[in-house]
Amino acid sequence: MPEVPAVQIDSLSKSFDGVEVLRDISLTVNKGEVVSVLGSSGSGKSTLLRCINWLEEPDRGVIHIAGERIGVDAHGKRMNNRDLAAIRARTGMVFQSFNLWPHLTVLQNVMESPVQVKRMRKDEARAIAEALLEKVGMEHKADAYPYTLSGGQKQRVAIARALAMSPEVILFDEPTSALDPERVGEVLTVMKNLSSEGYTMIVVTHEMEFARAVSDQVVFLEKGLLIEKSAPEKFFTNPETERVRKFLELSA
Ligand SMILES: Nc1ncnc2c1ncn2[C@@H]1O[C@H](COP(=O)(O)OP(=O)(O)OP(=O)(O)O)[C@@H](O)[C@H]1O
Ligand SMILES: [Mg+2]
Repeated sequence: MPEVPAVQIDSLSKSFDGVEVLRDISLTVNKGEVVSVLGSSGSGKSTLLRCINWLEEPDRGVIHIAGERIGVDAHGKRMNNRDLAAIRARTGMVFQSFNLWPHLTVLQNVMESPVQVKRMRKDEARAIAEALLEKVGMEHKADAYPYTLSGGQKQRVAIARALAMSPEVILFDEPTSALDPERVGEVLTVMKNLSSEGYTMIVVTHEMEFARAVSDQVVFLEKGLLIEKSAPEKFFTNPETERVRKFLELSA
């Protein structure tokens, strides 16, 4: 029997103020895959990520996380907040702007959700957090506060924090866009390592080299439509649509 996909999106649509910003999107992300999401500003990339973990409620469509439907219970009713929080915790999110908790140290940032949401014992959460900080090369800053870190360091802590909940998928929304150019590489290196370790990731990015080297699939959104979905070699060398051809030309 084939393995249940990490994320399955069927016919997802979402409007804001009567304008459809996602239109009938379907996408399957298998376990261990990296999917890069490209598209120009306003094409719906962030909204797509936010619908996957139900931070935005879709108007139509069905989303499964590791085989479990998010947002709607077995009776077809909207999930209560507790159930929604539980399934949302099976996804991790990494934002452009890091969103670390400023009043907590690096170590506490990574321990917080396992302790508060999963009710994990503190010593266990600490051991996991220390191992994850080592994975992202931030163990030497465990007791530092976020304001003392560079953007690249903050983002690596944010990645460790997302990993701490053992998510089925990590959603990255332009994780390197707010960084100084010389800090981009260290974050992409961490992400490449995660991919080699078999983490499932959906990455909204403008880093074409990364998308080409690391992705299993590249998808392109245009005005809320998923107009192209290909393996990276094909996407970058022989795209199907004129629109993608143009986009690649402009970003070369
Ligand atoms: N909460 C909201 N309320 C109203 N409109 C919204 C909301 N969130 C997004 N939109 C609109 O939906 C469209 C898609 O936005 P989205 O942020 O998903 O695009 P994006 O591809 O992530 O763009 P960018 O590359 O600039 O981040 C845009 O027109 C945006 O203005
Ligand atoms: Mg966005």
